Amino acid sequence: RLAFLLRLACARLELFGGFTLLRLGLDDARLAFLLRLACARPELFGGLFTLLLLRLDDELAFLLRLGFDRLELGGLFAFLLLRFEDDRLARDLACFGGPSTAIAGGSPDPMPGPIESAAAASGLRVSPKRATITSRDAPAILRRPAHPIIRALCITKPPGARCRPPGGGAHWDCDPGELRPFLAFRRIIGRRPPRWAAGAIRIYNSSPMRAAVLTTQGQPVAANVELREWHDVEPGPGEVRVRTEASALNHLDLWVGRGVPGADLEFPRISGSDGCGIVDAVGEEVDAAWEGQRVVLNAAVMADAPPRPGVTPTSGVPAVIGEHSHGTMAARFLAPVRNVLAIGDADPVAAAAFALSHLTAWRMLVTRARLRAGQSVLIPGIGGGVALALLGIARHFGCHIIVTSRSPEKLARAQELGAHAGVLDAGEDFSREVRRLTGRRGVDVCADSVGKAIHGSCLRALARGGTFVTCGCTTGPDATTDLARIFWNQLSVLGSTMGDMAEFRAVTSLFSSGALSPVIDSCHTPDAAPAAYARLESGEHFGKVVIDWRSGAS
Ligand SMILES: NC(=O)c1ccc[n+]([C@@H]2O[C@H](COP(=O)([O-])OP(=O)(O)OC[C@H]3O[C@@H](n4cnc5c(N)ncnc54)[C@H](OP(=O)(O)O)[C@@H]3O)[C@@H](O)[C@H]2O)c1
Repeated sequence: RLAFLLRLACARLELFGGFTLLRLGLDDARLAFLLRLACARPELFGGLFTLLLLRLDDELAFLLRLGFDRLELGGLFAFLLLRFEDDRLARDLACFGGPSTAIAGGSPDPMPGPIESAAAASGLRVSPKRATITSRDAPAILRRPAHPIIRALCITKPPGARCRPPGGGAHWDCDPGELRPFLAFRRIIGRRPPRWAAGAIRIYNSSPMRAAVLTTQGQPVAANVELREWHDVEPGPGEVRVRTEASALNHLDLWVGRGVPGADLEFPRISGSDGCGIVDAVGEEVDAAWEGQRVVLNAAVMADAPPRPGVTPTSGVPAVIGEHSHGTMAARFLAPVRNVLAIGDADPVAAAAFALSHLTAWRMLVTRARLRAGQSVLIPGIGGGVALALLGIARHFGCHIIVTSRSPEKLARAQELGAHAGVLDAGEDFSREVRRLTGRRGVDVCADSVGKAIHGSCLRALARGGTFVTCGCTTGPDATTDLARIFWNQLSVLGSTMGDMAEFRAVTSLFSSGALSPVIDSCHTPDAAPAAYARLESGEHFGKVVIDWRSGAS
């Protein structure tokens, strides 16, 4: 049956819906084999998540269903749930909250020896409280054949053992849109979820807050934005909770509202990938010194990839806060502590407006295109947040900058901000004008986020040996390219997505020193969130659209 299932998973990943659920009564040897296989060939298991269900009881079945319903509760890679020895189950399960959670181990008390000795043998640190090992460490452990940790995790909860909620009482005060796990539990088990599970379902166990909620998928997105009460959230291990001072919109908020192709997003949900605010709670394993700090978010939760000398970081971005999990368009948001930077007394509106667009632009120009002072740079669609960040960085490098826009007013404003020339994009080939402006040579770098509508013009505007770098395709992904031009003119075509914390630190230091600053189109109160989305959706904006949560925030 296992062989059949694995073959089926290989042949028809979609049957497994992004997950593979193997419900098998395996002995240790088979389990070890399966774990090694999951590590070596995750694609056989049909997606990011591998769930191995082993000798489950009803409560664990419920929690696994929860993992299905709410991806952000799950881990990134392998997510092993095994029965636990005692009533610490609920606390152990609370560690699903972070994107790095991979293995929730049993209570350390009954089985301290095997887990700790396995961890010591692997050079790992095991939390004395929870015996939890994060995904960064999981492959290393699981690659070892029949490693003792595997056996250490195969423990069973004695029949009749009771589980208590971690941290006391909980109430079941559900938003209708958040009822799915609850209903799933009822469907499976035929009764209410046990109270102890509330600790694992953090979203239910809290007081309400205000959030700009995308009520349903559709276009125009602004029509589906409502300021609503939403259940507050508690930080999981490795996370901070931020009281939002300001959050900024990106085009990504519109993609989320329209429904990102390939991502099965559930609504209602909270978008928002730019945020700045004060840390008001920290999860386990986070230094309490973070509390009270003003932080700015890097929404890209990167896959861990060991850095290699001289190699551009290209690790994937498996999770984006605001896309794969609830985002910053709320009075509070959660983030892994490693995704925030303390920014002292910086203006929160400016910090929120700065972060994602400048991080993206930095990776495009500095990391990927290896921009040098004096080069010429073409930036299409200059009214956009990323385009204006590109303008600031190119100006900082002392480049010669040409911008395009569909609007003469935006061209004039960009020139006030340091662009050397503007070319009106009237829906026709603008490369001739760019070539005229560069003495027929063309530009060294074209940094584009507009996509299909102007792709041909961008390629034709490049000098021999020039670089086209893209981070987005607002007008569509299916552009017609010109391979002959690419090889004959020896062009480089590069992709770029967001950036890691080293890049975030580098670009944010220029914000802190005043060398770079965001262009802000408009700043709205939370009540005007629909208008903010509408402003971005209109395409009339010039720079970032921000929501200031300090105005009457709950
Ligand atoms: N990969 C990543 O890490 C990453 C990160 C951030 C953004 N992105 C992507 O990059 C793109 C831009 O993001 P953003 O937040 O800067 O968006 P934005 O603020 O909405 O800007 C989009 C700009 O594109 C231009 N534009 C729109 N429709 C156009 C058309 N039909 N023809 C020519 N130009 C057009 C407009 O400039 P004018 O009005 O001046 O013509 C507009 O201001 C989005 O697709 C986004 O998803 C990717």
